[in-house]
Amino acid sequence: MGMLEGKTAVVTGAGRGIGRGIALALAKAGAKVVVNDLGTGLDGEGVATGPAAKVVEEIVKVGGTAVPNYGSVADYKQATEMVEQAVKTWGRIDILVNVAGILRDRMIFNMSKEEWDAVLAVHLDGTFFCTRAASIAMREQKAGRIISMSSVSALGSPGQPNYGAAKAGIIGLTWSTANAMAKYNVTANAIMPSGATRMIDSTPRGKKIFDETGKWPSEQAIGTERDPDNVAPLVVFLASDAAAHVNGQVFHSFGYGYTLLAQPQPIRRIDADRRLDPEELVKLLPETFGPGLHEPPGTLFGKNLPERSKDEWKEVGRGVRFWQWPREER
Ligand SMILES: NC(=O)c1ccc[n+]([C@@H]2O[C@H](COP(=O)([O-])OP(=O)(O)OC[C@H]3O[C@@H](n4cnc5c(N)ncnc54)[C@H](O)[C@@H]3O)[C@@H](O)[C@H]2O)c1
Repeated sequence: MGMLEGKTAVVTGAGRGIGRGIALALAKAGAKVVVNDLGTGLDGEGVATGPAAKVVEEIVKVGGTAVPNYGSVADYKQATEMVEQAVKTWGRIDILVNVAGILRDRMIFNMSKEEWDAVLAVHLDGTFFCTRAASIAMREQKAGRIISMSSVSALGSPGQPNYGAAKAGIIGLTWSTANAMAKYNVTANAIMPSGATRMIDSTPRGKKIFDETGKWPSEQAIGTERDPDNVAPLVVFLASDAAAHVNGQVFHSFGYGYTLLAQPQPIRRIDADRRLDPEELVKLLPETFGPGLHEPPGTLFGKNLPERSKDEWKEVGRGVRFWQWPREER
């Protein structure tokens, strides 16, 4: 019996890339899946039913259960309906995975209001609309799992102010939902995924790889550390009963491994017995908070962990090793 036998799921943006891999893996684990995808271009322009229909076909072909949904997560009514489709079709919604996404990259000083609005609408509004609708059913059921795709771009990607803000917003939304829904046995977690999809093809690095090799990163990824399907096992785990204790966490999925992020933690503070003057801060802050301030990590986050000293890694068997931040408080 699969880990998710008898459960029902909605996966948004499941017609391609990371979402497709998640929908297939949930179905393989026994869940019945609403496969949502608007079938847009990377910039959110255009629509097509092909991507969602094809993934449904793939699931059904191997004996799984799935139905398509062609709505937009950025449309409040359509987002609500795609969640309700699971309830109407199978009586409940156990799992919501927010994956749908687009890109409109531009430096902050060049970004138009339209580029800002379009990206915020799909990522942040879309995640809110679907999460809101699912939380209503999950609260009544007193059970549920919400898993949303954030991104390392939330940590300061310079050319993605709209996307970075939306992805950081998804973390705030996840934490709020986690704290609000815990008493109903509903968990909410976020993943900063990675995988060579068309999103990566569109980056300067993706184009460079194409120029050098004649193939897009997405064409070379299957079965490698860059395979977008590497995200799915973590999603299946988080969606399962085995992850009942995992709530309000942010993970980074990179290569064949997963990183758990620290919760934000106060690191320095000055305290006074009165309101401080700005002039005093000119002297006090460099002496206390700085120098030694760290800049935001940006998209390089977590990528150098494999290079950390061997002593920091512990073999746990079956080709798996474990690293823990030496300064982590338990
Ligand atoms: N690929 C990566 O390395 C990476 C890194 C960080 C975060 N992410 C995030 O992971 C998610 C999946 O990315 P991907 O690389 O698989 O992208 P992708 O472009 O391959 O797939 C995204 C899918 O979302 C669909 N979609 C777009 N707008 C929609 C809407 N309004 N309603 C419903 N569906 C819509 C698209 O049609 C597409 O099929 C996104 O949220 C992305 O921001 C990806």
